[in-house]
Amino acid sequence: MFLQLDDDGPRYLQLARALKQAILDGRCAPGSRLPATRTLSRELDISRNTALAAYAQLADEGLIDGRPGSGCYVAAFAATRKRSAAAAPAHTPARAIALSRRGRRMQQVYDRAIPGRQHRGLRYNLQYGLPMTNPQLASAWRSALNQAAAHVQTDYPDPQGLPELRVQVCEYLARRRGIAAAPDDVLIVNGTQQAFALAADVLLDAGDRLLLEDPHYQGARQVFAARGAVIRTCRVDGDGLVVDALPRDGRTRLAVVTPSHQFPTGAVLSLPRRMQLLDWAQQRRCWLIEDDYDGEFRFGARPLAALKSLDRAGRVLYVGSFSKVIFPALRLGYMVLPPGLRDAFVAAKWLTDRGSTAIEQSALALLIGSGAFERHLRRAANTLRARRAALLGALRRYAGDAVEVADSSAGMHILAWLPRTSHAQAQALVDMARARGVGIYLVAPYCHKPLRRPGLLLGYADLPPADLQAAVRLLAECLPRIAQS
Ligand SMILES: Cc1ncc(COP(=O)(O)O)c(C=O)c1O
Repeated sequence: MFLQLDDDGPRYLQLARALKQAILDGRCAPGSRLPATRTLSRELDISRNTALAAYAQLADEGLIDGRPGSGCYVAAFAATRKRSAAAAPAHTPARAIALSRRGRRMQQVYDRAIPGRQHRGLRYNLQYGLPMTNPQLASAWRSALNQAAAHVQTDYPDPQGLPELRVQVCEYLARRRGIAAAPDDVLIVNGTQQAFALAADVLLDAGDRLLLEDPHYQGARQVFAARGAVIRTCRVDGDGLVVDALPRDGRTRLAVVTPSHQFPTGAVLSLPRRMQLLDWAQQRRCWLIEDDYDGEFRFGARPLAALKSLDRAGRVLYVGSFSKVIFPALRLGYMVLPPGLRDAFVAAKWLTDRGSTAIEQSALALLIGSGAFERHLRRAANTLRARRAALLGALRRYAGDAVEVADSSAGMHILAWLPRTSHAQAQALVDMARARGVGIYLVAPYCHKPLRRPGLLLGYADLPPADLQAAVRLLAECLPRIAQS
């Protein structure tokens, strides 16, 4: 209990006054037990007799019941007293606080953010981004954490990331993504979101131009918009970003692209366009952030090597995340930076958070080094392949040509266009499905320009095949009804 003595008069009266104040302003509720006099004397560095005398004084005033030594309780009468207005801390209402420009923008983009997880009342939630649960991974992770906790250094970690994790990241990237990086090029970050925030801090001033694909990941738009970037977009088609439609002037400072699996359409940027994009960036001295958020999971053709692996001019900042391949609660990811940017990013990281948490970094290095991570990736890819096939099969079977799935063979979500549905009917479909316990989500919030036709962004990582089939059956039951609406 926090008690402030006022240094006025005998100590037992000072203590009695402080306790009385705590009782009257409601910090000690009626009927609650007061601290033992022995505890009080130790905490306040007073003699026990002083504490006993203070309690006796309060008992005389009728504020407490009981006997010092066998437990004292706040008298019930105090129940009639409300916490006094004078004692309540003076809260300035949020709207009356003058925030910084950035603070205001952050609030605005957050207010308009796509709502968080929406499980309530849902039997089947096809929300994008829900992680796949995997008991084998959970147990491997637990033992890696235990091992890491036993050995980790307790001082501040290297802000660039634990060297052993950076080594593992480089080996993994060489094996799986064709990227030749040295541990010194790698910065460990708290997920992609922090990579975006650091890039905004290091590379953009308010008013600078940022280019996003359209549609795009709203997490990127928000973080750059909050920092005052002027956002432009460029359309995508079945081959990914339409590089010919990029602005020709040299005013774009930074562009965020998802070449391996365009978010959310799923298109893969063709090799000629990759080369063209790198040329475009080099000629305009524009930085490219390659967001390789789910590059691991492909189910058809061989994956194209990462854009970073083709980058001879050092314009690409590669960003990988463990959110999809392990789980988002981990909040760990990495950047592979052009050498000239490394020190500025490490400084920004140090100033922001003094480095990512060392125990998790160390556990992750152990998990990757032991081979458990890649075993998990192989299992996860098989599980996802089966889930995806179940979802696509169910859509074909139950929804027929009311739904047109965008061509893609990777990731943990699909984009399903509704070619014969108006935007209002699509919203009605979402509402009707929700009333039947199925969570489906429109793609519109991810688009900058209004869409010609509505579409659904459906995540399938979290649901087994039978659930996906049941969900689609329920969803399909709504289709004829909304057609009449
Ligand atoms: C396009 C895209 N990039 C990156 C991420 C990962 O973000 P983070 O690493 O901050 O969890 C996601 C997660 O949903 C995503 O959809």
